[in-house]
Amino acid sequence: MKKNVTVNIDDLTQYLNTHQSEFEKDLCELLRIPSVSADSNHAADVRRAGQWVVDQLKSFSLDAELLENGGHPLVYAESPAVPGAPTVLVYGHYDVQPPDPLDEWISPPFEPTERDGDLFARGATDDKGQMLTHVKSAQAWIETVGRLPIQLKYIIEGEEEVGSGHLESFIAAQPKKLACDCVVISDSCQFAPGQPAITYGLRGIAYYELHLIGPKQDLHSGTFGGGVANPAGALAKMLAALVDDQGRIQLPGFYDDVLPLTDAEREQFQSLPFDEQAFMRQLDVEALSGETGYSTLERRWARPTCDVNGLWSGYQGEGAKTVLPAKAGAKFSFRLVPDQDPEKITESLREFVASHTPPGIQVELIDYHGAPGVVMPLDSPYVKAAAAAIEKGFGRAPVFIREGGSIPIVTTFAHTLGAPVLLLGWGQSDDNTHSPNEKFSVADFHRGTRTSAFLWQALAAIDPQKSG
Ligand code: BES
Ligand code: MN
Ligand code: MN
Repeated sequence: MKKNVTVNIDDLTQYLNTHQSEFEKDLCELLRIPSVSADSNHAADVRRAGQWVVDQLKSFSLDAELLENGGHPLVYAESPAVPGAPTVLVYGHYDVQPPDPLDEWISPPFEPTERDGDLFARGATDDKGQMLTHVKSAQAWIETVGRLPIQLKYIIEGEEEVGSGHLESFIAAQPKKLACDCVVISDSCQFAPGQPAITYGLRGIAYYELHLIGPKQDLHSGTFGGGVANPAGALAKMLAALVDDQGRIQLPGFYDDVLPLTDAEREQFQSLPFDEQAFMRQLDVEALSGETGYSTLERRWARPTCDVNGLWSGYQGEGAKTVLPAKAGAKFSFRLVPDQDPEKITESLREFVASHTPPGIQVELIDYHGAPGVVMPLDSPYVKAAAAAIEKGFGRAPVFIREGGSIPIVTTFAHTLGAPVLLLGWGQSDDNTHSPNEKFSVADFHRGTRTSAFLWQALAAIDPQKSG
């Protein structure tokens, strides 16, 4: 196909405007599928959601298929190549986090409900709603112009929320399918309502589960307490030893490879209109905490951390029970920054755990998943094109930010494809991702779709030969 066609942007905009309620209806259909990747009881639902995405893409004649890849299936699709124009890879995920705790949802997690301009459902913003903007924008192009101005490839996976364990090998085995000039991902946030952002850095992650095992069964804490090691107490002590009073992680060598923040970047963070008081009000906390010597944005975006994600042991029922539990366990994770290596962290953790295990306790450490952090350059025509499309779609130029969350495959994209990765988040930081009452602003859904439609055109103007 030829690169140049006369495109009437008004036709596109009009199509997007007149199809808004249809797009919302489609999004709700996808949100009704409980595609919880972590829960094997939902494996069939995960697959159904993947098939739904395939059918959407096929409905406007893209070549789409559901690929088996060891775990939950992968959606792959592509449009015809456009000589002289870039090939753009869209990545997203159709799986979601578990909806627990269920009793805190105002409306059920898989019954999408609109309230005050927000659509509430698990996956609304992370990532079904954001991902769908790049599908609907392609639909708009094909149904009004007849074709896309660039070649689009889609990889929409069903395992992002469990660490993207099978995607890496797919990428290694299918270099042709993945060949592209840039990657576009909407799976992050704007800086604030009305202030869109381009994200140039993500933290990595290293996630573990730890089991401490004491006596063969729960014991009377009066008869045995004091004479037998208590796994719950030992676990509390071990977890507490991981971080000191200054918020510094105590694993030997943990900070060895940490890329320090430059003065320029610290100034750039400082210049962002971040309102600490409003942030505290949003979370209903009276104080913030973290590593001494760093601002809140620095702590959240560019410094490594440790968080306990789950903790269990002993009696959880009503009233008091004098028991010395036989077992205790925890799920916890480190957020990593460039250039920390998750495997090195695991080695150091194994030694730490062994040296902090008291006599009479057995330990088992499970290594769930790990991914390094990433910071990406901003000096490319692709970033400029994205900024221009955002300004047009949102009515305001984006600010450049880092994020504390992780998208495991982004590091692989950035390092192995040699193509710029554009992280264009349409969400808000109070969208309750992974929490009860997840939501996505309906207006942001449409602004994101419009921006995506503009982006395809802005990217078409780039000569991939000159800016590879
Ligand atoms: N979309 C998020 C990551 C994210 C959140 C990026 C906010 C930027 C801003 C993604 O779905 C996610 O939750 N990732 C997990 C990765 C993990 C399960 C390997 C995360 O960060 O916890
Ligand atoms: Mn996501
Ligand atoms: Mn997520």
